[in-house]
Amino acid sequence: MQAIEAVPAQDAQRLVILGTGGTIAGRAALAGDNVGYVAGQVSVGDLVAAVPMLKPLPLDVEQVAQLDSKDMNFDVWKALAVQVAFHLGRSDVMGVVITHGTDTIEETAFFLQSVLKPAKPVVLTCAMRPATALVPDGPQNLSDAVAVARQVGAQGVVVVCAGQIHGADDVTKVHTYRVDAFDSGDAGPLGCVEEGMVRLFRPWPEACLAGSFDASAHDRVQASLVLPRVVLLTSHADADGLMVQALLAQAASGMVQPLRGIVVAGTGNGTLHKNLEIALLEAQAQGIRVVLSSRCVRGRVLAHLGQRFSEVSSLSPVKSRIALALDLLPG
Ligand code: SIN
Repeated sequence: MQAIEAVPAQDAQRLVILGTGGTIAGRAALAGDNVGYVAGQVSVGDLVAAVPMLKPLPLDVEQVAQLDSKDMNFDVWKALAVQVAFHLGRSDVMGVVITHGTDTIEETAFFLQSVLKPAKPVVLTCAMRPATALVPDGPQNLSDAVAVARQVGAQGVVVVCAGQIHGADDVTKVHTYRVDAFDSGDAGPLGCVEEGMVRLFRPWPEACLAGSFDASAHDRVQASLVLPRVVLLTSHADADGLMVQALLAQAASGMVQPLRGIVVAGTGNGTLHKNLEIALLEAQAQGIRVVLSSRCVRGRVLAHLGQRFSEVSSLSPVKSRIALALDLLPG
């Protein structure tokens, strides 16, 4: 593994490494087993200690959560946003690294970018193999993530995995098993890390103009106990409107958190099976916001004349859900 280059002398030199669990912190009974493991077992302190070249660096390490990221939820996102905002506000901190599971890392990255628009780098990293693997990928990914967080001029939320740097808005997990499991679609990666050096292909993600993060969006999120309820449906052959009708009936019963929005992963350019479309038009007529996205892994939904739903999204379906829920927050 490569040495991490020293950064030029400046006030903010410290990095904060926050742990949330995932396969990077996973443990298997057998060292050769890359799939039969339990995620979120090894502390972030131990993950950092396993990478010798991090030893001389000024690091603070903190465990924010310890979970399999398939179980990610709004409470953990809020806790993470609070800790990230706190550390970004410290004058001695130049960036934050977050260890995370691969399964929802793109959602957490998108949430943090939407809510904080950090002026310093926030770098999420992960692994496809558990910490106990014969050849774990976590230590190299963590080392690369630290190199990115120490890059002068870096800003915004990015995901670093398998030597690539992906922007929070574009990154998607595209492979179930390979160590290079992420892709940034048409946009491509932001850059790469080669032997501890960052090579940038395009600009860092957008950052707020004043302060180290966007305090207004952060405060709005922290003031909310729950995210407005937005569900995600998919259009497919033989689709019907039963699921939508059930959601509307449930909402009318008042027994669950009110349904505020539906994101639908449509076919192609956001098209819908006619049976599902009828039900969604009824939902829209009842005041539920309906947003069209696409099941296609590349491209975006283009609005067009004659469209029957007022909102289309250029984000992936899972990120469209977060964007709509955040948009529905009070204030
Ligand atoms: C997880 O997302 O927490 C488990 C899977 C992984 O990290 O690859």
